[in-house]
Amino acid sequence: VSVQSSPATAPRRVLALDAADPHAHRRSAFQLDDDVVYMDGNSLGPLPLGARARIRQVVDNEWGCDLIRSWNTNDWINLPRRVGDRIGELIGAAPGQVVAGDSTSVCLFKLAAAAVQAQRGRSRLVTDTTNFPTDLYGLDGLARLDPSIEVVRVPPEAVLDAVDRETSLLVLSHIDYRSGAMRDLRTVTAAAHACGALTLWDLSHSVGAVPVALDADGADLAVGCTYKYLNGGPGAPAFAYVAARLHESMPPALRGWMGHRAPFALDEAFSPAAGARRYSCGTPEVLGLSVLDAALDVFTGVDMGTLRDKTARMSELFIELVEEHGHEHGLALVSPRNPAQRGSHVALEHPHAYPIMQALIARGVIGDFRAPNLMRFGFAPLYQSYADVWRAAQSLRDVLMSRAWDDESFKRIAFVT
Ligand SMILES: Cc1ncc(COP(=O)(O)O)c(C=O)c1O
Repeated sequence: VSVQSSPATAPRRVLALDAADPHAHRRSAFQLDDDVVYMDGNSLGPLPLGARARIRQVVDNEWGCDLIRSWNTNDWINLPRRVGDRIGELIGAAPGQVVAGDSTSVCLFKLAAAAVQAQRGRSRLVTDTTNFPTDLYGLDGLARLDPSIEVVRVPPEAVLDAVDRETSLLVLSHIDYRSGAMRDLRTVTAAAHACGALTLWDLSHSVGAVPVALDADGADLAVGCTYKYLNGGPGAPAFAYVAARLHESMPPALRGWMGHRAPFALDEAFSPAAGARRYSCGTPEVLGLSVLDAALDVFTGVDMGTLRDKTARMSELFIELVEEHGHEHGLALVSPRNPAQRGSHVALEHPHAYPIMQALIARGVIGDFRAPNLMRFGFAPLYQSYADVWRAAQSLRDVLMSRAWDDESFKRIAFVT
């Protein structure tokens, strides 16, 4: 079943926003059906056409024909650094400080472990209770390896009070995966530094979505996903940022030959590579990194500030339209109302969030559900129009008014939600 309200029926003011949108032409860089309103780029970005062409070329030619020679001739070996530097451009990191590879969970663990070693003598790792579960699990796992480490989890508003002179590292998400609330990276980092603590930011919901200025804001460490707003594809490699000033004093804890200065010297002793490459570990994920490299092309020439302006306008429009009818149907806004404090998704709470989202998906409006009762709608200005936003709000209204969600087929909870 496709979206019921056609874009032509969107009000004139919505169509006028699209007509004046400097990003409108970028949608054609993606494979997206016209009858789908895709609002789940906060979970899995859509397929950039250039990425599809690139994977074919890598498989057919670079792997298929050039075989092992490609490590040199097609520069496979430098993909983690090259792709890392391209991600760095989107998060305000000068070259040589970002490496791509591994998952966000692994990157978080390896940077936290290195930071804790570098901060020996300080025993506390501070995080907040709303951090993404994989981040919490990783920190707990680290503490089990070293009984002198204590993980302190506090409510989000108590984080700065919990950082003290015993704190080695403060680990936070820049944008909360549930509410979309965004922290002030510069202020929090400065407060942690005042106690001598380092910071490790999870940028999974920030990279490619909001302007980030890691170097300028004095950040220490960061990690993030690339399958969300960077459209790198399912399971795309993550990235790790380590500020250049820390490279010497913070040797990698998880060591592998790809972090060695000369992997093919096959030395018995580990000698770290220059720059963030030292934090690489195993063989680069060539297929995933190549797709990600091509996916990043859609950001060429994109100013993150103007992208963010469109996100703010789209999410404001969505909230306004939803709130025209939402309260009477039991919907509540969970995200901050102030767009400056909100990342790129809007979270709505409803006791029947799961079947409502399934009914929306059946109508071609794809968002997602997060337990226990949240619907998330992601805003990605590269491929969404204001008419899409209007269609999503209309469909939500239809589903609620008709109670279309109250159907057994929408209530069966899948393993992946
Ligand atoms: C904030 C955040 N951190 C980490 C992850 C997990 O990343 P990965 O699966 O690459 O380990 C996610 C996944 O959605 C996330 O939203």
